[in-house]
Formats: sequence, structure tokens, C-alpha cells
Amino acid sequence: MEREDFAVARLSKEERAQYCRHQGMTLWLTGLSAAGKSAVGFTLEKLLLQQGYMAYALDGDILRQGLNQDLNFDPVARAENIRRVGEVAKLMNDSGVITIACLIAPYQKDRAWVRQRHQVENLSFIEVFIDTPLAVCEARDPKGLYKKARQGEITNFTGIDASYENPLQPEITIDTTVMDPVAAAGFIMNDLQQRGIFPND
Ligand code: ADX
Repeated sequence: MEREDFAVARLSKEERAQYCRHQGMTLWLTGLSAAGKSAVGFTLEKLLLQQGYMAYALDGDILRQGLNQDLNFDPVARAENIRRVGEVAKLMNDSGVITIACLIAPYQKDRAWVRQRHQVENLSFIEVFIDTPLAVCEARDPKGLYKKARQGEITNFTGIDASYENPLQPEITIDTTVMDPVAAAGFIMNDLQQRGIFPND
């Protein structure tokens, strides 16, 4: 039986928001590997929780250990990765949670698809470009993956032999060369407040 069959009992997202302090929404942090997406995402998650908002960060690396362990990094698999996480984020939105997806999501069409899936249900979708130059990410190389990609030990690596399409009109851009994760999380929080994301406050 579909959830819609229980339409009388099912809370609308507006009704649910009356019990929470806000409606669910998705912040999608996109950028190269080692750009700092997870550092910013987890810092923002903590900041939101500390202020009494429900928030949860979905991390690409962690999801690829479970839900998405069957997917590789070719364009079709990445599209499926983004689709699944987008759908999970939407379910979390429905529960009232501010969802912070930290995934490379390198292709414009995949990000546009997730945005569209949110928009048709009037869910807020905020694209946050974690804008760290390739040279900086490669110098960090915390997992040694850039080195392996340069040596041809791994293929389809974003920024090396697979493309990253910069967001065309992200709602927020974070220049990580001038902002650390704490500053970035504060900047995003401030932006959300200005957008009136927390109407019950
Ligand atoms: S996405 O492109 O499909 O959105 P996702 O964010 O889930 O990528 O996973 C990226 C992480 O997988 C990277 O941070 C890195 O640790 C690891 N990884 C392993 N192989 C690759 C690859 N070929 N390209 C990019 N990231 C890779």
C-alpha cells in the first residue's frame, strides 16, 4: 500500500514544520575530492544541531561503503549515485531534517536533476559550491588518490581524467582558500537565515 493511501493520517510538510522549527531542505555541497566538502558539511551539521535545528550530513565516501557500494565512478554510476542520494535527501526533507549532502556530483545534469526533483515538491534545494582549486586539492591529497590517478593506477578520477563541471549558478560559493570550515559553516548559516529558512524562529 502506498503512503498516499493514508492521506488522511499523513502529515503535510507544513503541518510537520509546526512541530519542528523549520521545514526539511537540502544543501548540496559539491566540489572536487579533498575540496573540504565533508569538513564544511560536518561543521555545519554541528552548528545547526547546537542551535536546535535538526540536521544530518550525508557523506559520499560513507554512502559508498553501504547504500552505494555497488557503484563505480563512470558517468552512469555517478548519475545513479546522485539519484539515490537525492531521493534519500528528499525523504529526510519530508521528515523535517535539514540534509547536507557532501558529494562531488561533478556533472551539471545530475545536479540539475536533483534540484528539479526537489522543486516539483516545493522543497528547498541549495547548491553550495565548495570552490577549491584543483592544485590545492591535489597538494592536500589526504588519501593519496590524486597521486594514484596521475600514475594511472586509478581511472575516471575527477579533475584528472574525468571532468568536474563548475556549478553555473550556485546559491552559495565558498572560497576555501580564504575560509576555514568553521568560517564557511557560519557563512552558510548566515545565508540560510537571510533566506528566511527558519520561519518559526
Ligand atoms: S560522485 O562523483 O559520485 O559524487 P562521491 O562524492 O560519491 O563521488 O565519492 C567521491 C569520493 O570517492 C572521493 O572523495 C574519493 O575519496 C573517492 N574516489 C575513489 N575513486 C574516485 C574517482 N575515480 N573519482 C572521484 N572520487 C573517487
